[in-house]
Amino acid sequence: MALRTLLLGASSLALLSYGQPEALENHNSSDLLCTCNQIAAAISDASQVSFPFAPEYLSDIEHATPSSAKASACSVEPGSAEDVGEILRILGSTRTPFAVKGGGHSMNPGFSSTTGVQIAMTRFNQTKLNSMTSTVDVGAGLIWDQVYKTLEPTGVNVLGGRIPGIGVAGLTLGGGYSFLSSQYGLTLDNVAGYELVLPNGTVTNVTSDEDDLWFGLRGGLNNFGIVTRFIFKSYPQGDVWGGIHFYSENQLDAIKEAFIKYQQKNDTKAEVAVSLSYSSGQILCTILFFYDAPAPSGVFDDLLDIPAIGGNVSTGSFFDYFQSLGTQGGFDGHRVFGDTVSVIQYSPAVFNAFVDQTKLWGARLWALDENATLTLTQEPFDKGIFSHGSESAYPPDRSHAIFPSSLTFEWSNASLDDTMAFALHNISNSIRAAALADGQDVSHAALYPNYALFGTPLEDMYGGNVERLRKIRAAIDPEDVMGLAGGWKF
Ligand SMILES: Cc1cc2nc3c(=O)[nH]c(=O)nc-3n(C[C@H](O)[C@H](O)[C@H](O)COP(=O)(O)OP(=O)(O)OC[C@H]3O[C@@H](n4cnc5c(N)ncnc54)[C@H](O)[C@@H]3O)c2cc1C
Ligand SMILES: *[C@@H]1O[C@H](CO)[C@@H](O)[C@H](O)[C@H]1NC(C)=O
Ligand SMILES: *[C@@H]1O[C@H](CO)[C@@H](O)[C@H](O)[C@H]1NC(C)=O
Ligand SMILES: *[C@@H]1O[C@H](CO)[C@@H](O)[C@H](O)[C@H]1NC(C)=O
Ligand SMILES: *[C@@H]1O[C@H](CO)[C@@H](O)[C@H](O)[C@H]1NC(C)=O
Ligand SMILES: *[C@@H]1O[C@H](CO)[C@@H](O)[C@H](O)[C@H]1NC(C)=O
Ligand SMILES: *[C@@H]1O[C@H](CO)[C@@H](O)[C@H](O)[C@H]1NC(C)=O
Ligand SMILES: *[C@@H]1O[C@H](CO)[C@@H](O)[C@H](O)[C@H]1NC(C)=O
Ligand SMILES: *[C@@H]1O[C@H](CO)[C@@H](O)[C@H](O)[C@H]1NC(C)=O
Ligand SMILES: *[C@@H]1O[C@H](CO)[C@@H](O)[C@H](O)[C@H]1NC(C)=O
Repeated sequence: MALRTLLLGASSLALLSYGQPEALENHNSSDLLCTCNQIAAAISDASQVSFPFAPEYLSDIEHATPSSAKASACSVEPGSAEDVGEILRILGSTRTPFAVKGGGHSMNPGFSSTTGVQIAMTRFNQTKLNSMTSTVDVGAGLIWDQVYKTLEPTGVNVLGGRIPGIGVAGLTLGGGYSFLSSQYGLTLDNVAGYELVLPNGTVTNVTSDEDDLWFGLRGGLNNFGIVTRFIFKSYPQGDVWGGIHFYSENQLDAIKEAFIKYQQKNDTKAEVAVSLSYSSGQILCTILFFYDAPAPSGVFDDLLDIPAIGGNVSTGSFFDYFQSLGTQGGFDGHRVFGDTVSVIQYSPAVFNAFVDQTKLWGARLWALDENATLTLTQEPFDKGIFSHGSESAYPPDRSHAIFPSSLTFEWSNASLDDTMAFALHNISNSIRAAALADGQDVSHAALYPNYALFGTPLEDMYGGNVERLRKIRAAIDPEDVMGLAGGWKF
């Protein structure tokens, strides 16, 4: 099709590079097997190496979407921090490409998947409330569902993912926008400590006493080693109110107006996410409501006045609310890429740009793949969101709030991967241009690393922090062991 040729011919494609360096993909397979056996011989009984296609291997390489999964030579589930150290020493000395997987929800190919050695953190699965310190120890292999479930009877909660299935590790190490972020900040602002295996295999605890690693780990993902445990601050949690409503396209003007009014109310217990999806020829609007109390203040009144075509809201425990969002995170085996743009305000002009892009690209790509679904989500938070923490790798500038957005494409036909990535770039650029034209100074508004599409320049996410982060990484990882794993690299 002509459009496809046009898109693939675009020069900007050359800028897109996939997670793991090309050279690592061509690693000699007998060498890989040898490394796998070396690891199997070195680790304790707490850990296990698996080969294709054992059940453990299959679950170790599994990802939220097939587009970000790869078949590794073997997989390893470490069961102790010391064994993680052994594994890193062997991978480093043999220069073997590897990947570290928490919940496997990164949509970027090669960020937590590899054709080398797949490390799956699943055995780090403890959730332990320490009532003396009101902190919660959480293993790096858990997904938030498990953490919320364990904490439900305790009456306290931590700041984690908003949709079932997301890993604790990736979300926390990249930032973390939660239902409680307007009240308490990002997930990384609510970490009290980390147990970290350094790139040279040494196990260490990192707290705020440590200047550089503390700074780097808060937003710097897998640059500084492998985290085995997080210690989170906790907060009392009572029943919450919320749910999801669906709206037809003819309500978009009313929603825009009510959404603007909502944002002017500054109620930190409230959260909404407004999604526009294009599928099968039409736009569907979905609003996710959350309120951190059994009944909402009047903050949602204007939005709730708009007739919905479906959905429901109710009061219940935080865990029940979270679970009720279950189907929202499933991709049905489809391929998915995501990108993001940051704005200062979800103004009428920005809202219009979201609508225009949904129509334009949704229709174009649906014509190429019947399963192509574009979903653009506006995620406003309180303007004080960055005031709850100290300097960190992300966000690079805490002096004023910027809000992330989630732009995702879902599709089936693998031959459209490059086209989808190109479209997402175009969508984020177009929305940024609309925000600039609206008078919002977003030319340097940092992009959220956990949402950004592969190929995004480091400076666009970490701003003026990049140089310091590079120095920290050079000092902590002089042998570039973590460079053998994909992901954003300083
Ligand atoms: C459906 C869906 C909903 C989402 N909702 C939210 C949301 O509400 N809020 C939000 O902030 N984000 C959200 N995200 C984005 C999410 O934060 C990222 O996808 C995040 O990377 C997922 O973490 P993970 O552990 O599942 O990912 P993985 O793919 O396992 O890992 C992501 C990155 O972290 C690294 N990593 C994993 N474990 C470790 C470790 N132990 N030590 C060092 N590095 C490690 C990996 O190597 C990889 O680079 C959502 C994503 C999806 C797909
Ligand atoms: C892999 O490397 C080993 C030595 O390291 C060599 O003997 C073998 O021929 C190589 N195999 C391939 C397919 O390149
Ligand atoms: C943690 O893993 C162990 C060993 O696989 C298992 O027995 C235990 O039930 C798991 N615990 C949780 C909370 O999943
Ligand atoms: C890290 O802290 C834990 C307590 O939270 C302790 O048991 C462990 O020994 C410490 N590890 C190191 C390497 O200091
Ligand atoms: C909404 O209804 C669905 C289907 O009946 C149910 O599974 C879900 O839990 C409900 N959600 C809320 C928030 O009440
Ligand atoms: C909300 O916050 C903004 C900016 O801080 C302020 O201008 C506005 O008056 C506040 N609105 C209310 C209702 O307090
Ligand atoms: C669309 O997805 C369904 C499964 O979800 C699949 O059966 C079908 O083949 C897909 N269509 C195309 C064109 O790939
Ligand atoms: C996938 O796309 C390619 C190239 O556009 C096309 O040739 C092929 O028929 C498509 N496959 C399906 C199942 O639609
Ligand atoms: C988006 O793509 C169109 C071509 O389809 C091009 O004309 C336009 O300049 C692009 N916009 C941006 C901001 O990249
Ligand atoms: C491992 O790296 C840390 C941090 O750079 C360093 O303090 C430690 O001495 C190193 N350990 C070994 C065994 O080299």
